[in-house]
Amino acid sequence: MVSIPLEVLGVFSRWLHIVSVVALIGGAIYVWGVAAPALKGLQDDDRTGAWAAQAARFRPLVYAAIAGLLVSGTYNLLTQPGHTRMYHIWFGVKMLLAAHVFVSAALAVSAPAERPESESRGVRRLAGAAIVGLLAILVAAYLRRIY
Ligand code: HEM
Repeated sequence: MVSIPLEVLGVFSRWLHIVSVVALIGGAIYVWGVAAPALKGLQDDDRTGAWAAQAARFRPLVYAAIAGLLVSGTYNLLTQPGHTRMYHIWFGVKMLLAAHVFVSAALAVSAPAERPESESRGVRRLAGAAIVGLLAILVAAYLRRIY
């Protein structure tokens, strides 16, 4: 059996975590700030159709990023034991923020094709995911300081 050195797994897991954050939060910011405002001039029906097409294309990326964050985050946590009580409190805060991001982003892109969600509600959900995601990144930066 081939054994992979733990350092390689650690680097891969950190890479997967960062790449998943980039795809999920960066994607939500792009839709909220760039793609959705560009639909503003369209008629209601056209806007709903364009939104449904965007959401369907973003969906696999959102699901893959959530899976990537759960797998890499759990690996990072289990391989770095012995943290302070303060670390665990702030880690709990980060998990609540992450849960909000996952649910908002998944709901924003999950409407079935025959019942497309309104563009305004979908964009509001992704805006919420973007803002709370930026807060989660702030908490993650703090976690690195307090170990
Ligand atoms: C919206 C969701 C999330 C965001 C935006 C996020 C963001 C981040 C960022 C930016 C880092 C620092 C990466 C680095 O410098 O290597 C990090 C580290 C980490 N994340 Fe996440 N993360 C999210 C979800 C999760 C989840 C679901 C878990 C656990 C299951 C998790 C566990 C961890 C751990 C253990 C670390 C290392 C923290 C440390 O420096 O001690 N994260 N996260």
